[in-house]
Amino acid sequence: MASYQLAILGGDGIGPEVLAEAVKVLRAIEATSHDYVFELTEDVVGGAAIDAHGTAIRKETIALAKRSDAVLFGAVGGPKWDDPKAAVRPEQAILGLRSALGTFANLRPARMQPALVHLSPLKPEIVQGADVLFIRELVAGTYFARPKKYWQDARGMWRAVDTTAYTEPQVERTVRMAFELARGRRKKLHVADKQNVMATSRLWRDVATRVAQEFPDVEFQAILADALAMHLLYRPLSFDVIVTDNLFGDLVTDEAAALAGSMGLMPSASLGSARNRHGGYRGLYEPIHGTAPDIAGKGIANPIAAIQSLALLLRYSLKREREATAVERAVDDAIELGLRTPDIARPGEKTVRTSDVGDAIAAAVTRELELRL
Ligand code: NAD
Ligand code: IPM
Ligand code: MN
Repeated sequence: MASYQLAILGGDGIGPEVLAEAVKVLRAIEATSHDYVFELTEDVVGGAAIDAHGTAIRKETIALAKRSDAVLFGAVGGPKWDDPKAAVRPEQAILGLRSALGTFANLRPARMQPALVHLSPLKPEIVQGADVLFIRELVAGTYFARPKKYWQDARGMWRAVDTTAYTEPQVERTVRMAFELARGRRKKLHVADKQNVMATSRLWRDVATRVAQEFPDVEFQAILADALAMHLLYRPLSFDVIVTDNLFGDLVTDEAAALAGSMGLMPSASLGSARNRHGGYRGLYEPIHGTAPDIAGKGIANPIAAIQSLALLLRYSLKREREATAVERAVDDAIELGLRTPDIARPGEKTVRTSDVGDAIAAAVTRELELRL
């Protein structure tokens, strides 16, 4: 009997609420199987860990993540821990985990569900059919390079510095993964950079242009990141896969929520070179949204991004494509059937609770897997 070890790190705000629904779906999958079980280990991270242990992520939690086959993560942060000058901040949990796991490629798919086209601020004729996969570099660049500090100099003037730095291998491994993923899709790849201003961007463009020679079947184009931010809203259908650095990727993927309709519909998978005991990626899976303090505790958060992140976990870490597809179909069905948390409802439309969505998707997954045995 195979056993999959998963770390479940809910975090703060709506993080634990949406992960509880993903776990429900996981248990429904397990109940249909005769040859594997899921062993889940939960731990606190982020603000919850600061309150309990004085640190955003304990060494034990990093060790748990490293020995797990994959990590399912909610979100961290919130007003209670918001002092930007505090030495200990909730965001250190997610940044520390990404870095410790070496998950350099962050896959963020943004797909417009036909039934939700009215949610987008973009016109239906522009956004209908949008399906873009972003690959954001996740463990280097502006987020991690040193020096990074905020200080007062000898004359009493406040100063701050961030550094953007990349090496050729850091860029190459990310770009290469993006080309490989493009091969399995519509075979179109854009690299987004600021090569007119930034040296690191010139490195990105040079490396991507060189690697492109090895993928003659993939149509490759470089684009300035600021222009991309604009073109994404005017002609989203002309993009398939977009690879970019850590900071640009953070910005354009929140923008891409306009292509999916809600932050509650944007999952992610973070993959690196480490493999687990099943030959899959030792990956980190999280919705791209945050802790949504405005709706936390009300039971109305949309769990779909978390459940879609679970589908990515099944595919990339557990190599369970059948189960991954079943979850994705069940999510599409729930949306088609009109199950709407408030973030994806039309004004006046009937809404359901977080747990209703989880229950419906879990039941649909069960049907899907039992029917197709
Ligand atoms: P957010 O994503 O938490 O919320 C933005 C808006 O989207 C809010 O109106 C929220 O209600 C809505 N929203 C987000 N997820 C939703 C869901 N699943 N269902 C329904 N509505 C949803 O971003 P923010 O408000 O800028 O940040 C809040 C906190 O979260 C901050 O402390 C921030 O640092 C943190 N954050 C954490 C992560 C992470 O842990 N990976 C990511 C982003 C933000
Ligand atoms: C994200 C978030 C994180 C990031 C924060 C919470 C550190 O915005 O996952 O997109 O900037 O990477
Ligand atoms: Mn972000």
